[in-house]
Amino acid sequence: MQTLNVELGDRSYPIVVGTGAIARADLIAAALPQPRAVIVSNETVAPLHLQSLKAPLAAAGVDTLEVILPDGEEYKDWPTLNRIFDALLAHRCERSTTLIALGGGVIGDMTGFAAACYQRGVPFIQVPTTLLAQVDSSVGGKTAINHPLGKNMIGAFYQPQLVLADTDTLATLPDREFRSGLAEVIKYGLIRDAEFLGWIEQNVDALLARDPEALAHAILRSCRNKAEVVAADERESGERALLNLGHTFGHAIETGCGYGVWLHGEAVAAGTLMAAELSHRLGWIDAATLQRIEALFARCALPVHGPALGVERYLELMAHDKKVQDGKLRLVLLKAAGRAVLSSAVPAGDIGAAIEARCRAD
Ligand code: NAD
Ligand code: GLY
Repeated sequence: MQTLNVELGDRSYPIVVGTGAIARADLIAAALPQPRAVIVSNETVAPLHLQSLKAPLAAAGVDTLEVILPDGEEYKDWPTLNRIFDALLAHRCERSTTLIALGGGVIGDMTGFAAACYQRGVPFIQVPTTLLAQVDSSVGGKTAINHPLGKNMIGAFYQPQLVLADTDTLATLPDREFRSGLAEVIKYGLIRDAEFLGWIEQNVDALLARDPEALAHAILRSCRNKAEVVAADERESGERALLNLGHTFGHAIETGCGYGVWLHGEAVAAGTLMAAELSHRLGWIDAATLQRIEALFARCALPVHGPALGVERYLELMAHDKKVQDGKLRLVLLKAAGRAVLSSAVPAGDIGAAIEARCRAD
């Protein structure tokens, strides 16, 4: 088990990564203001992992209540969020009752947002159970629900007290979900950690085989990258925007196809290729670098083309991006494999051409 910290002054918190982390009731209990917590999970994760979290908590004298939500990105919405509030109110949960998110990024984002809103803010803990959530969404305090017009549009920055990433929970994760998480791992290499990118390329077979050592290294290195970025720019006024490589295109794919059709990491993979294609067309990266990026995503069986929604539809959806400033689209692009930049100066024609080149009808 290894620990690293997200350094945010009096809101700093540890990320604990390793086998058996879910059962560390001692760490959870130490973070609770009262011996009472509400575990939010979903219908898929709860039968697999709830007992491993709940039983040690009961043994440690912590009283728990569960809220089990339906599973799916399409439920990351107001009516489902309200089910959390209904339960908190029905059970007279107090301002010092902690919410614990047990699940992937959907459960983490919704539970975090519920914690930010209930009684104007209650403590919360992340117990991420997907690769994507362990390397990205559980760290950094972005919480949100979707709106029919845009992904993650309604939310809050709200940091957890503790993140417990148990690598054992990944054993039950379906292959497609696992590969989706790898897209966000590759992201850190591409935006700011060229050495890590090289390591991923060397170890991709071990990662795909879920080799425990390779996995632990990838999760820790990803979390270290994310923790550094978040510590430097918690509310995304600068560097944090780079964590959105591929996301402006990717969110358009997710919203355009209907939430849940493309997995988040799949959409990010296709979106990253669009960003790389555009960077190449602007003369910022050479053809060999573009091919190198494509080859890595392809080895992970991740999509390297987006759906053929039409350039106009892509641009319309991308206009809702949270990075839009003064009506102008800002995109995360690559200057090299390992160095991303935020650019607002790209002509729409070039963006359209890159999208066109990276879409497939099938
Ligand atoms: P998810 O939460 O939908 O989980 C994927 C699937 O795996 C679900 O069906 C889930 O029930 C299942 N699952 C979870 N853990 C499992 C396990 N251990 N065994 C078996 N099945 C398991 O999706 P995700 O990929 O974890 O997260 C995607 C979401 O995260 C998106 O909504 C995205 O917007 C959000 N996100 C947020 C941030 C952030 O900074 N807050 C960053 C990246 C992504
Ligand atoms: N996943 C992007 C961020 O946390 O900023």
